[in-house]
Amino acid sequence: MAEPRTSIHGLWSSRWAFILAATGAAVGLGNIWKFPYIAGQNGGGAFVIVYLICIAFIGLPLLMTEIMIGRMGRQNPSNSMGTLAVEANVSRHWHWVGLITVITGALILSYYSVIAGWAVDYVFQSAAGHFTDGTVAHINGLFTSLISSPTRLLFWHSCVMGATMGVVAFGVEKGLERAVKYLFPTMLVLLLLIVAYSIDTGYFSQGVNFLFHMNFHALKPSSVLVAMGHAFFTLSIATGSIMMYGAYLPAEASIPKAAAFIVIADTLVALVAGLAIFPIVFAHGLQPGAGPGLIFKSLPIAFGHMPFGEVFATIFFVMLVFAAFTSAISLLEPSVAWLIENMHMTRFKATGIAGGIIWFVGLGTVFSFNIGDKITFLGKNFFDSLDYLTANIMLPLSGLLIALFAAWRLKKATTLNELNFKNGIYYKSWRIVLGVVAPIGISLVFLGAIGLL
Ligand code: PHE
Repeated sequence: MAEPRTSIHGLWSSRWAFILAATGAAVGLGNIWKFPYIAGQNGGGAFVIVYLICIAFIGLPLLMTEIMIGRMGRQNPSNSMGTLAVEANVSRHWHWVGLITVITGALILSYYSVIAGWAVDYVFQSAAGHFTDGTVAHINGLFTSLISSPTRLLFWHSCVMGATMGVVAFGVEKGLERAVKYLFPTMLVLLLLIVAYSIDTGYFSQGVNFLFHMNFHALKPSSVLVAMGHAFFTLSIATGSIMMYGAYLPAEASIPKAAAFIVIADTLVALVAGLAIFPIVFAHGLQPGAGPGLIFKSLPIAFGHMPFGEVFATIFFVMLVFAAFTSAISLLEPSVAWLIENMHMTRFKATGIAGGIIWFVGLGTVFSFNIGDKITFLGKNFFDSLDYLTANIMLPLSGLLIALFAAWRLKKATTLNELNFKNGIYYKSWRIVLGVVAPIGISLVFLGAIGLL
């Protein structure tokens, strides 16, 4: 091994700061907004099982791998992969894979910020009591009037991007770490309050039933692709975020332990969010398959008819905003680090440029719900296309390449030493899963989804 490299951006102050930041990156809109609605659309239980299998067999090993590559390279994902490739005497072209992940992260942030903006808008609407005693038509109307207003969406998207840039501009310890340290624990407490409230609805067992009842007939090959894509998305894999955060991880921390913690925490939050949301949905006779509007339409109807509904609706949306924000900063950091390292910019300037471009791309999503809703690609509007392209195609494919790189291109002695498993059998399993099982699994799911199986 070459002598230890250092990160020019600084490091997390401790292993726990990394774990908090990476868990904050993983837990976000994916867990609370997306997971319940896609589970609802894909029939519940069986979908959840496929998702859990993907998390355990593809997500966990890849998460370790990304943290490892990040920490060995100590640079943005593209430069880290390029440097490690050169050190392992293989083609430097592997840096393109890293670059694609940085670009994917930026694309995701462009729409993530718009959806986070919906949540910010809903904080104010719930606090103002707009949902109280609302009829279905009234509350659907509130959602429609939000997404059909380009100016309102633009305003909140700009606020979210502005705040994200405000944090990232201050760097690793003074910006990212400080924000996550306060926001993430607060978010967890708020989530637990919501769960307690939801148990109190008396429909808890229906929620449990829906999430864990195995109905394999509802599971189409395309649902399997959605479940796998979501496993990547929810763990922030192949988006630059985790590899970047790994670059700031102190040298002595155990990577397998940190990865296991992040995976367990992320999965628990998704399941808990589902268990909090579905009972409230069922208690009011609403549909679980309502789609992206699930928590913005169904939940407010439910909250509007419950005791202390405004308070808990406000708590719910504040929690969602905090969860989204700790993910948004992790999506911006890789692009900023890339500009600093390769264009020799100051952090301040790099944040302005990366954030500005991402803000601009976000306009596509803003307009896709209103004045631009007629512009479609293969029948999907701009937002749906971008979501599908990133989550279901780019993430699994880049994940596949990262897996092959780590298992077949990096030197065995290097990865063995860096992962430092307690038991040799774990290392062997990691390599087999990464080099064989995951690539075959990902390829089969793709072939199935495009109808070739
Ligand atoms: N994992 C985040 C979520 O579930 C989204 C995200 C994706 C964040 C990629 C960072 C990178 O909401």
